[in-house]
Amino acid sequence: MSVLIKGGTVVNAEQSLRADVLCDNGLIIAVGRDLDAPSGATVVDAGGQYVMPGGIDPHTHMQLPFMGTIASEDFESGTAAGLAGGTTMIIDFVIPGPQQNIIEAYHQWREWAEKSVSDYSFHVAITWWDDSVHDDMGTLVRDYGVNSFKHFMAYKGAIMADDEILVNSFARSLELGAIPTVHAENGELVFRLQKELYEKGITGPEAHPLSRPPECEGEAANRAIRIAEVLKVPLYIVHNSCRQSLEAITRARNEGQRVFGEVLAGHLMIDDSIYRHEDFEVAAAHVMSPPFRSSEHQDALWRGLQSGNLQTTATDHCCFCADQKAAGKDDFRLIPNGTGGVENRMEVLWHHGVGTGRLTMNEFVKVTSTNAAQIFNIYPRKGSISVGADADIVVWDPEATKTISTKTDHQNVDYNIFEGMEIKGCPSHTLSQGKVVYANGELTVERGAGRYVDRPPFAAYYDALQKQASLAEPVAVKR
Ligand code: URP
Ligand code: ZN
Ligand code: ZN
Repeated sequence: MSVLIKGGTVVNAEQSLRADVLCDNGLIIAVGRDLDAPSGATVVDAGGQYVMPGGIDPHTHMQLPFMGTIASEDFESGTAAGLAGGTTMIIDFVIPGPQQNIIEAYHQWREWAEKSVSDYSFHVAITWWDDSVHDDMGTLVRDYGVNSFKHFMAYKGAIMADDEILVNSFARSLELGAIPTVHAENGELVFRLQKELYEKGITGPEAHPLSRPPECEGEAANRAIRIAEVLKVPLYIVHNSCRQSLEAITRARNEGQRVFGEVLAGHLMIDDSIYRHEDFEVAAAHVMSPPFRSSEHQDALWRGLQSGNLQTTATDHCCFCADQKAAGKDDFRLIPNGTGGVENRMEVLWHHGVGTGRLTMNEFVKVTSTNAAQIFNIYPRKGSISVGADADIVVWDPEATKTISTKTDHQNVDYNIFEGMEIKGCPSHTLSQGKVVYANGELTVERGAGRYVDRPPFAAYYDALQKQASLAEPVAVKR
């Protein structure tokens, strides 16, 4: 089954050019001027539009069991919502419970994800440590296509990784050619501040950002960076929400350290006044960690994207409906943490990034797909409009307008954090594996059509790092 995308401008990270794109059997087989449509091919008219790599959201949590409940968005509805917004691949997280075998957890998540309608992959969280975890990390890298491990420096008493786990797992990641990633917040400080606020009678969602100040994030980001520096392993920091963590990343990068930073569309756009909203449901709908910050931090994050010190954009899509958020009506610590956005990331980034001149179109492609594909080692299969790449493509209409609303979106959650936002620039068509799965407002997806994407380890570069690490070994003085 072939699809010819005709008359558009192809926008890749490195260049833009007028070209048609021919897809067959799930792959891009030609990019060039005046391509002929093979007989029976579907032709998509891309006149006046941009033809870009489908988005990669490197941070989602579909149907995550978390804080006593399960995220409302599952792999089928969540990947469908992504396709409606031009996102053709997600990287979700396997999060084993403390002491749970990590391979068993991996298989559990794989089973849940079988119903996905777009391609997907998994980071695996390291939430505890012993020799079996050390060995199983090797199996995941060698046999199961995992090249990134996640560490939650917050959520004390649940999935928090302390320094012992970070050190062991970062060192093991280097041996395996995998990249460690962290949720950077000092979980001990958060735990203490939460308790103090609650005991002072500040029990509503307004306490959430107060219990997780930017300094807690900056400290954890810097700690993870310095551990990675000593162990000589690259590091990826998820959902940077504040100036302090951005500064830690920028400083490390200026010193030549290989540190990557992700930012969420929500953290770029929403400020912390929302937690003081008089309606508990609205305030609670925004409870996620790290929290939304004051506008000073949003400005810093945009500058981080513009300067290249932050490389990827994500959503941390982790949806809980009002009845689930109500668990924390009398105690903000019990509000399930998480917000949505997988459907809206691309259009929010386009409107507020490209539309304001903060980002060029090529930079937009970098931060919505190419950089994630490169950092997680699936480039150019993903993140590129080029011959041989997967035909995961978004045709972008820069003139289309819409108002984001939970009434019209496809996400399985009763609140949209971008509700009411007016957007110019949206997908007209999305192709997944060479099939048109979204066209002019209509989704045509197939349950289970999504494939698990293997991500190989980083061989050559890590070999060099390991050699460098052993060269630096001290020699004992003989006396
Ligand atoms: O509040 C959030 N972010 N929920 C999902 C889990 C995480 O910390 O990423
Ligand atoms: Zn997190
Ligand atoms: Zn997350």
